[in-house]
Amino acid sequence: MTENLKDLNTETREAWDTNAGVWDARMGEEGNDFFQSLQWPAITRLLNILPDQHILDVACGNGLTTRKLAELGAKVTAFDFSANLIELAKTRSARYSELITYLSLDATDESALLSLGQHTFDSALCNMALFDMADLEPLFRSLPKLLKPGGVFVFSITHPAFNNASAVHVAEEVDDKGVIKTVYSVKISRYMTPYHQRGLALHGQPRPQVYFERPLQYYLNLGFQNGFVLDGFEERAFPAEVPQKLLEWGGKFSEIPSVIVARMRLSTH
Ligand SMILES: C[S@@+](CC[C@H](N)C(=O)[O-])C[C@H]1O[C@@H](n2cnc3c(N)ncnc32)[C@H](O)[C@@H]1O
Repeated sequence: MTENLKDLNTETREAWDTNAGVWDARMGEEGNDFFQSLQWPAITRLLNILPDQHILDVACGNGLTTRKLAELGAKVTAFDFSANLIELAKTRSARYSELITYLSLDATDESALLSLGQHTFDSALCNMALFDMADLEPLFRSLPKLLKPGGVFVFSITHPAFNNASAVHVAEEVDDKGVIKTVYSVKISRYMTPYHQRGLALHGQPRPQVYFERPLQYYLNLGFQNGFVLDGFEERAFPAEVPQKLLEWGGKFSEIPSVIVARMRLSTH
C-alpha cells in the first residue's frame, strides 16, 4: 500500500470507530431498507447458506449479517477493523456464542487475513464494505487461499454506475401530453477512474468517512486475476410501489438499481 493509502486506511478506521455507536443504533438487529429490501434477499439467493457451513463475514460491522447467517445454522468467523464495532457486535450476539467468532482484523493486512486458516471457509460474504476499503488487493489475493476449492465470495456494493459519490438525484417536471409529471433521474459525472471522497453514510454521524469509488470492471477484474469466475449477479432496485416515506429512492427510481450483489466462484480448472 502506498503511504497515501495507508493514511486513508487509518482515517477510515478512526472514522468507523468514532461512528460505531451511531451506526449500531441505526442498523440495529434488522438493518435499514436497503438491507432488508435489496441486499439480504439477493445474498440469501446467491450464497445458498447451509447449516454447518463455515462462512467468513468480511467487514461485519455490528454483526448484522453475521447473526443472520448463524440463525440459518452456519458457523461464522466475522471480522472488522473497527474494535468498537466488534465490541458492539459481540454484545448483540451473546446468544450465538457457539456459532460466531468475532475478530478485530484489517482486510488490507494480508498476513492477518492469511492467519484465518488455509482452505477453511465454504464461502465468504462482504456486505456493503468493499467501497469502504482503501485497498482491495490483499483481500482478493487472500480469499482463494482461505476458501475451500470451488468456494464462493458474495459481495454487495452500491451500484458503481448509478449510486456513486458523484451521483446527483434530479427531479424534473414535464408536460407529458397534457399530464404534468415529475421525472426522476440520476446524473453521474465520474465513473471510470478510481478516486476517493469523504461523505456521510448516515445523516448525523459524527465524522465523515472515506468512500473509495471504483468502476465495476475493477472489482470483477480483481476477482478474475485471482482465480474467480463471476457466476451470479443481481442489480437491485426498489419496487415502484414501495411507500415513499420509507426511502429517498423508494418509488422514484425503480428503474435505476442502487445496489449490486455478485457471486464469484473459485474456478476449479
Ligand atoms: C457500511 S459498513 C457495513 C457493515 C456490515 N457488513 C453490514 O452489512 O452492516 C462497512 C464496514 O466496513 C468496515 N471496514 C472498512 N474498511 C475495512 C478494513 N480495511 N478492514 C476491515 N473492516 C473494514 C467498517 O469498519 C464498517 O464496519
